[in-house]
Amino acid sequence: MIIVCITGASGAILGIRLIKELLQRNKKVTCIVSQSAWQVIQYELHTDAKTIIDILKSQNLQNNLLQNLKEYSPDDFFAPVASGSFPFDASVIIPASMKTVAAIAHGYADNLIHRVCDIALKEKRTLIVVPRETPMSSIHLHNLYTVALNGASVVMPLPAFYNFPKTIDDVINFIVGRVLDLLHIEHNLYKRWDNEDNNR
Ligand SMILES: Cc1cc2nc3c(=O)[nH]c(=O)nc-3n(C[C@H](O)[C@H](O)[C@H](O)COP(=O)(O)O)c2cc1C
Repeated sequence: MIIVCITGASGAILGIRLIKELLQRNKKVTCIVSQSAWQVIQYELHTDAKTIIDILKSQNLQNNLLQNLKEYSPDDFFAPVASGSFPFDASVIIPASMKTVAAIAHGYADNLIHRVCDIALKEKRTLIVVPRETPMSSIHLHNLYTVALNGASVVMPLPAFYNFPKTIDDVINFIVGRVLDLLHIEHNLYKRWDNEDNNR
């Protein structure tokens, strides 16, 4: 089971796309969306949906795949994933706000998302953080450095221009594809670097 957390940074579409790609590969997903993330989702995706299940239904994801998705409130410390004794394979914070990065870096487990990250680090499980802010202050960079030093992977949501992205979808596919790479999940969301490929 993979935990996907969406926080209130710009780029909620990245987290929603990751959840969809995981479900389409028959993975079990637990998702947690912060209160600020819902404000960003409603603004950036022009939706008044209040659950990720509703968003994915509107994108025509099959019902049988949605059965593998569990959604918890960020206030729900009684959720199974709030305990280190509950196993999960990996956790991804995408996008990660600077507030949430600060909380992870300092072990300040004020909501279920922070708690999941705390558990991932203390239990030495996979934690992938996709931070979104620009420019970054030295405080942001220091917090990201702390998170990386403690075992998390930091994936900046940046396009690779050697892939010649033409649409926003190309950029999203590349970033989500790089996260799937770290999760060791096969995909063909982007074309891998091959300088000797004459068909490029
Ligand atoms: C439209 C919108 C875009 C935002 N984009 C970012 C962003 O890219 N990075 C960031 O760190 N905060 C951003 N914020 C601010 C966060 O939502 C805010 O700091 C919030 O407290 C984060 O809480 P959370 O980490 O619990 O979701 C944005 C807010 C809004 C309304």
